[in-house]
Amino acid sequence: MNKPYVIANCAMSADGKIALPTRKQLRISCNEDIERMYKLRNKYDAVLVGINTVLSDDPKLTVKEKYVEQPHQPIRIILDSHCKTPEAALAADGVAKTFIIAAEKCNKKYGNNVEVIQCETDQNGFIDLEKLLDLLYDRGIKMLMVEGGSTVIWNFLKQRLADELYVYIGPMIVGGKDTPTMADGEGIKNIDELISLKIVETSRIGPGILIHYKMIK
Ligand SMILES: NC(=O)c1ccc[n+]([C@@H]2O[C@H](COP(=O)([O-])OP(=O)(O)OC[C@H]3O[C@@H](n4cnc5c(N)ncnc54)[C@H](OP(=O)(O)O)[C@@H]3O)[C@@H](O)[C@H]2O)c1
Repeated sequence: MNKPYVIANCAMSADGKIALPTRKQLRISCNEDIERMYKLRNKYDAVLVGINTVLSDDPKLTVKEKYVEQPHQPIRIILDSHCKTPEAALAADGVAKTFIIAAEKCNKKYGNNVEVIQCETDQNGFIDLEKLLDLLYDRGIKMLMVEGGSTVIWNFLKQRLADELYVYIGPMIVGGKDTPTMADGEGIKNIDELISLKIVETSRIGPGILIHYKMIK
């Protein structure tokens, strides 16, 4: 299978939460970390999120020009089997290209610069990530940045489809047993399914810490 090089990036609290208990967005990254994230985005061909992130946070997923010398807008990719992406979503605002990855039955039309691409689903009814990565590679996407949320990051890690992971840990506690964490999904069933990581680098960024991992496959 051909696949782009995949990194996942997210920001979490000291107790591993990535949003508020209401699942609404929580600003965890400091300004320096946000700058790091934009610089990273600027190097990638595409950035990818799940539909729940679009519905809860309405992210724009572009590169802010003040943070980089030569801005390049990555393709914005939304995993959205049933085309629930609102027409007014910022990630589909036409200023950069957007791919909405839908199940084969879904064929909604959006505005300029937004393409609905149908992809096979897996046994859980989710977009089949291996098929998707193959398809994205054929469309010229060689470097992909996965930005969440929990279910999407879980599936990329569980299926060993991410190559690297960046986690910014902000000095705060959110709590709540149902608050989203960096990797939710169904979790592993046996110890031999543990997803092992190797720490490449740790650095202090503002009040928090960035950990850069490589996946051990
Ligand atoms: N702190 C951070 O860095 C950060 C970053 C991003 C998001 N977040 C937070 O994350 C939360 C959202 O996470 P979430 O887990 O609820 O949703 P999500 O990961 O954003 O989206 C999951 C949805 O994407 C669709 N999907 C299709 N194919 C998939 C696949 N192969 N794997 C996974 N998902 C697939 C499914 O919906 P369909 O079946 O309808 O297609 C699935 O329910 C929000 O609270 C947001 O604020 C935090």
